Amino acid sequence: MRAHTSKVDTGSPSFVANRDAYLQEIATLSERQQWAIDGGHNRERSIERHLARGKHMVRDRIDMVIDADTPFLELSTLSGYGQYDNAAPGAGIVTGVGTVHGVPWMFIANDATVKGGSLLPVSIKKHVRAQEIAEQNGLGVIYLVDSGGAFLPLQDEIFPDKDHFGGSFYRQARLSAQGLPQLSVVLGGCTAGGAYVPALSDEVIMVEGIGRIFLGGPPIVKAALGEIIDADDLGGAVLHTMTSGVSDYIAQTEAEAYGKLRELCESVNQRRISDRQGWLDYVDPEPPAFDPAEIYGIVSADDRIPFDVTEIIARLVDGSKFAEFKPDWGSTIVTGFARMWGHQVGIIANDGVIFAEAALKATHFIELCEQRRIPLVFLQNTSGYMVGSEAEAGGIAKHGAKMVSAVANATVPKYTVLIGGAYGAGNYGMCGRGFNPRFLFAWPNSRIATMSAATAQTVLVDIRLAGLKGDDTTEEEVAAMRAEVAEQYETQSNPYYATSRLWDDGLIDPVHTRDILGLCLSLAARQDEPPVGPPLVYRM
Ligand code: COA
Repeated sequence: MRAHTSKVDTGSPSFVANRDAYLQEIATLSERQQWAIDGGHNRERSIERHLARGKHMVRDRIDMVIDADTPFLELSTLSGYGQYDNAAPGAGIVTGVGTVHGVPWMFIANDATVKGGSLLPVSIKKHVRAQEIAEQNGLGVIYLVDSGGAFLPLQDEIFPDKDHFGGSFYRQARLSAQGLPQLSVVLGGCTAGGAYVPALSDEVIMVEGIGRIFLGGPPIVKAALGEIIDADDLGGAVLHTMTSGVSDYIAQTEAEAYGKLRELCESVNQRRISDRQGWLDYVDPEPPAFDPAEIYGIVSADDRIPFDVTEIIARLVDGSKFAEFKPDWGSTIVTGFARMWGHQVGIIANDGVIFAEAALKATHFIELCEQRRIPLVFLQNTSGYMVGSEAEAGGIAKHGAKMVSAVANATVPKYTVLIGGAYGAGNYGMCGRGFNPRFLFAWPNSRIATMSAATAQTVLVDIRLAGLKGDDTTEEEVAAMRAEVAEQYETQSNPYYATSRLWDDGLIDPVHTRDILGLCLSLAARQDEPPVGPPLVYRM
């Protein structure tokens, strides 16, 4: 495979202007991530109280469990951002992948400094999404429990529906049955439904003095039975480890509990991150020939100006080597083979609006990768499928449907990164959230919506005006309508709006993309080869 020849001039004014603008985006991202760690309404007081009780901060807890000097891939750090009066940094829960004795685990850890670790609607979504990732990637789950349970004022958005609180217990029970270990350390409250997190775990450690499990806390017991009892006597570590059997081990301190947890992790008989099963072709990795930080200068600061996606690919793949498939046909989608951290991948990337040829090329390429058992990496930057009389007469709907169908049914691991616009059905064909990529990350310059704000202000207002036929709407009123629609679309397509609602698994710095995808691929490489998908019916 030959290395890419770059046309990027890193000294050009446009490169420098783009890079400066992107560095600003990165500064904003870091500042907002810091907000998730220790910011938010009334958080200082909560953190002080938490530390005064001798408890550790949630991310420090995870650091105390994972192998020294190994990374932790935190997911959806900015969930909850801008929602709930900005009082729910990280949605009060930290999820992510880290290794213990070389075995990768999914961590689900409550942050008791945010609303007592109680679960808001988006916290439940994050908890359940982490379990879904664990299932798809064959990961055991470590629960670090310190939670007030359901966030009671919003109980109707948390309790009754599929994938609400009950769904998290359903998934936990099924993960355990699949042989994916479920281990809990109880470091705070586990009240009512929350009691089922440890109770459904394969093994449980409780920390004396801080860990408590009960279906009803002392106030409920008093109201229901007239019984007056102290929280520790009702559901503390001594009671549950020595009398009830709800817990299996007791620890005096958090540090002791994490030492014990690491010991439990030695006996789970799970594959290590390095235990490749051989179905996914692998060679020694090599870094890209071009500096990934050059991506900052390649991505246009003005999202209406397109950028060459092959220059992006060259900064993500091993040796910047990319064997392009069908380079002279359907040029608005770029397809080809490359390696990321040694693992072979098939890349599908947008270079503009998707025409029929591009959709067909992508479908052909997905089928190739499916047959050859090569994971797919989608790099999304599209305004969608082509519209207009020529495109319709050429059958763009059926060609787009072929691509959508191929993506939906491919059983090889799929990963998606939103590197620019993710608009319209193009988002679906390029393996958007609805198409179950194993992980979906977004860059902070990305935008996701049915259509761009610029298009929406024309389309929506024209539809409204058509309905007002013959009325005397003034030009000023039309302009105000357009401004209102544009503002709505700009707000809702913003990546922070999206990540807050868990439409992705996190906003990432483009420079980290290669390492993150490399880790995701190594999770798949340690699993058995996925079964080949079913034969498809394509509309010809
Ligand atoms: N729903 C909504 N808010 C909750 C909550 C819940 N289940 N549990 C805690 N909170 C909020 C508190 O209102 C408080 O909010 P504020 O910071 O805006 O004032 C914050 O979380 C911290 O709670 P606080 O009780 O001051 O902290 P604590 O560390 O002393 O105690 C708990 C933490 C979790 C042990 C305690 O709050 C508790 O018992 N909560 C209720 C648990 C429960 O009965 N859950 C039933 C779930 S079905």
